Amino acid sequence: MNDKSPRDKSQRDKNQSEQTANQAWGGRFAAGPAAIMQEINASIGFDRKLWRQDIRGSLAHAAMLAQQGIIGADDESAIRTGLAQIQAEIEAGGFVFDAALEDIHMNIEARLIERIGEAGKRLHTARSRNDQVATDFRLYVRDAIDGLDGQMLGLMRALAERAEIHAADPMPGFTHLQTAQPVTFGHHLLAYVEMLARDRGRFADARARLNQCPLGSAALAGTPFPIDRNATAAALGFDRPTANSLDAVSDRDFALEFLSAASICAMHLSRFAEEIVLWCSAPYRFVTLSDRFTTGSSIMPQKRNPDAAELVRAKIGRILGSFVGLLMVMKGLPLAYAKDTQEDKEPVFDAADALTLSLAAMEGMVRDLTPNLVRMRELAGSGFSTATDLADWLVRVLKLPFRSAHHVTGRLVAKAEARSVGLADLSLAEMQAEEAGITADIFSFLTVEASLASRTSFGGTAPGNVRAAARNWIEALS
Ligand code: ARG
Repeated sequence: MNDKSPRDKSQRDKNQSEQTANQAWGGRFAAGPAAIMQEINASIGFDRKLWRQDIRGSLAHAAMLAQQGIIGADDESAIRTGLAQIQAEIEAGGFVFDAALEDIHMNIEARLIERIGEAGKRLHTARSRNDQVATDFRLYVRDAIDGLDGQMLGLMRALAERAEIHAADPMPGFTHLQTAQPVTFGHHLLAYVEMLARDRGRFADARARLNQCPLGSAALAGTPFPIDRNATAAALGFDRPTANSLDAVSDRDFALEFLSAASICAMHLSRFAEEIVLWCSAPYRFVTLSDRFTTGSSIMPQKRNPDAAELVRAKIGRILGSFVGLLMVMKGLPLAYAKDTQEDKEPVFDAADALTLSLAAMEGMVRDLTPNLVRMRELAGSGFSTATDLADWLVRVLKLPFRSAHHVTGRLVAKAEARSVGLADLSLAEMQAEEAGITADIFSFLTVEASLASRTSFGGTAPGNVRAAARNWIEALS
């Protein structure tokens, strides 16, 4: 049958009837499934997302079958043509996905048989849906990792570029969300570049481990046909075939590793998103987001809400939920394949989509935001943020033990606080009352700029360090 139009609706309704046994596996069945059986069993509603991977896998499988003389060259060529037509149908939106055919594998196979007849029926030789789905899913996760990797790179680039511009611009550094010591805005942004670099590493590790091909493991035990698993593995870009058929069809640790890496990355994005939310708030006013990344309130006309940042902050919920959910699905599953693993897809799809969106939104916000450098500079110098610099001076110049220097500085902070002034506003006499050795020299060490410039230890916030680190990243990422 070489009908180019999508299967018609009446045919589809007939397939869905409870009376007809399944065409693919219904040989021993007299009747079709109960409606509820079909509903719980069918995965086509979500696994249609795997159609590209499924066609890729089938093309590689068919080519190998022909190469090995298991099917004829003419069969293989018909399969190739048929799958190309199906691909075009799906792309054009004309393919009818049928729940009676359960999943993407049988939907495509059934359509292939409709289109090319006998040759289509040979495609499933030496293959099971168990190794087929394991292969498709690895391909999907691998593609997702590759897409996310490009996005992480994009976000890192946006951060590093801004970091270079703001390598010397002060902002308050916090611990416990209390003013601690001045840092530069560039230094703060580069902290997230480091986190994202490790996220990329985690995904890359997961990718390297998952890159083995399950195809040819068949249902669970392998196959008597003289297949060439190295050929299919190579054709699909895998490093090698998986070494144990039971493991290959049943484990989903590669999806769990993906979700684990995604959860950690989402956690990083959530931290950054939370900072953007704080920075946009009236008490902070560190940054403003433009109309492009904010929304208004339906009742309060003055509002500009950082919804995108809030949503990125929240996405960790569903991403980590996906990880925990799938881990629980896998727990206690005996070897080999069980239908439970059909529940692997939605969490991975959902997490991949959520992370894709989050990374895009974060890059957009990083490129969009306008820092309020005056405000950040002002707060960088407040809250006795250079108290540590004073203590360090006492240690370096007067050779006080650090604990004593800490104590003297604490008394000076108390004095300044009582008078509601900054440390540098105390007179030399007031300082000398606490520590006689203090000289006027101290004042030049109490500025934000001096504090920043002094932090030259490797990884510290001195503008020179930050500029060099930003440069290194920009070069490494280009
Ligand atoms: N839709 C199934 C899944 O996602 C494909 C494998 C079904 N295999 C089977 N023997 N029923 O897991």
